[in-house]
Amino acid sequence: MCGIVGYVGEQSAVDVVVEGLRRLEYRGYDSAGVAVVTAEALSVRRKAGKLANLEKLLAEQPISNGTVGVGHTRWATHGPPTDKNAHPHLDVTDRIAVVHNGIIENFASLRRELEVDGVPLTSDTDTEVVAHLLGQVFDGNLADAMRQVCRRLEGAFTLVAVHADEPEVVVGARRNSPLVVGLGEGENFLGSDVSAFIAHTRHAVELGQDQVVQIRRDGVEITTFDGAPASGREFEVDWDASAAEKGGYDFFMMKEIYEQPKAVADTLLGRVDDNGMLHLDEMRLSDEDIRDIDKVVVVACGSAFHAGLIAKYAIEHWTRLPVEVEVASEFRYRDPILTRQTLVIAISQSGETMDTLMAIRHARDQGSRVLAICNVNGSTIPRESDAVVYTYAGPEVAVASTKAFLTQIVAVHLVALYLAQIRGTKWADEIALHVSELADIPAAVDQVLETVEPMRTLARSMVTAKAVLFLGRHVGYPVALEGALKLKELAYMHAEGFPAGELKHGPIALIEDGLPVVVIVPPRSGRPVLHDKIVSNIQEIRARGARTIVIAEENDDSVAPYADTLVRVPVVPTLLQPLVATVPLQVLACELAHAKGFDVDQPRNLAKSVTVE
Ligand code: F6R
Repeated sequence: MCGIVGYVGEQSAVDVVVEGLRRLEYRGYDSAGVAVVTAEALSVRRKAGKLANLEKLLAEQPISNGTVGVGHTRWATHGPPTDKNAHPHLDVTDRIAVVHNGIIENFASLRRELEVDGVPLTSDTDTEVVAHLLGQVFDGNLADAMRQVCRRLEGAFTLVAVHADEPEVVVGARRNSPLVVGLGEGENFLGSDVSAFIAHTRHAVELGQDQVVQIRRDGVEITTFDGAPASGREFEVDWDASAAEKGGYDFFMMKEIYEQPKAVADTLLGRVDDNGMLHLDEMRLSDEDIRDIDKVVVVACGSAFHAGLIAKYAIEHWTRLPVEVEVASEFRYRDPILTRQTLVIAISQSGETMDTLMAIRHARDQGSRVLAICNVNGSTIPRESDAVVYTYAGPEVAVASTKAFLTQIVAVHLVALYLAQIRGTKWADEIALHVSELADIPAAVDQVLETVEPMRTLARSMVTAKAVLFLGRHVGYPVALEGALKLKELAYMHAEGFPAGELKHGPIALIEDGLPVVVIVPPRSGRPVLHDKIVSNIQEIRARGARTIVIAEENDDSVAPYADTLVRVPVVPTLLQPLVATVPLQVLACELAHAKGFDVDQPRNLAKSVTVE
């Protein structure tokens, strides 16, 4: 949600900043802008719409050749996505430029104060207020001004600013929103995440909460909002710029779908010893802490929430601990019952989702331990958790989650098995067996991808469908929810996922002639009763005219007579079926969006990292 870049060095700032924005564009694409500092003044260009519009403007009106600059790609909160609301925003002297991610909650009162002072406000944004406040307090030191202003701000914000009077410096600040420093040779960077500077350096520093950072060509200085010296955590990014390129695919999403076997394998790598026992070194919870747990609560949003629903089946099955799963944005507002014995698991690809972050803060305030499952090193949620299990999906650029979702499912299985191992609820050989079944998943996903071609034809045949329903049972239910979410966000179609058993309690009224209904059939070997019930459900909807698209394991002949389209997936244990059954649904949504002429990687109104509540 809003991407920010800051640069100071020897290269052309506009080139470095625009390149960084290109890599951050998945965070928001309502408008984009840059400001470059020269000895005399600031040069600013900003434009509504995608980054391409800004690049066109820069080609028509080139910017002066400075080596210090900032840039922004916007996901609109305050004010529509117009040129005037595009960042950077300037103070009255046009000598300060500010870019911002987040929401300044007390902006209305600050704005009134500025109006009383006669300051002319030219945009609808909360950000412009910061530019004017910085201008009012600036006394030759931008970092100082930033500290003073930040102390007055409420809410969530990452701010990055430059001042024409201090042309060698870029200053950043963060509270509740992400900001990472990139350390180069004779150059330094700021970015909403490491992809902003990955083409230049993999050496990064994670900033802490309520910190101000000043970067110069030859140094980085971090303080608290009160000016006390502070430091960040240095880390090396374990992927390079090529991992965030399309690599011959038409869309990032398709590339990321095809990266899933590797992502799953990487997430398992190094976590299992020769005896099949798990070692989760980043756990940071003692065995005693783990034995103490009496309840697990999973909090997450969107696709990560669906991974959380799957976690409930896995953890309850293997540990017999009760598990609650809750959408993070609802969690803290219902005053949940949390104790020191509660383990809260927060699942988040980005590690920055504000709803999830607020949920874990609430949980920690109540004394609960928090375990993060996260894909992005250096992000806020793992930093504020008691323990972390990283997923190794690599950078996920497409807004719709695919490989991150699959690796989240793998991670919840690892956590479930690890809890079982420490608590002794499963024998070592049982755990080793489950771990070996997980190790077979990359090959199974590969197999799905090799046979996924018919999904493309299917997608083209569904272009005129008004709605699509998804049905599943047991772990197939979260898969149904995920399939529906993918279709909503990418193909802008009305899509709903239901537990198949709920059908007769209402949703069956939606069935009409030709309505596509995707059904995820549980493995026959797991719970035959569930399998047989869903086969009956397929017959019920078909009798009412539905067009049935059935996802079933490859040896399951019982469903063939009732499937208008039959999609085969490899035979895997029931609890692992989401890892194979989700893949055709990802391809379906991607192809359907493409067939409808929509932007697959940057669907309308969405942004990848949702850093506002
Ligand atoms: C859906 C999707 C979103 C995210 C959700 C949580 O395709 O990508 O629903 O899953 O916004 O994001 P993270 O995992 O970053 O917390």
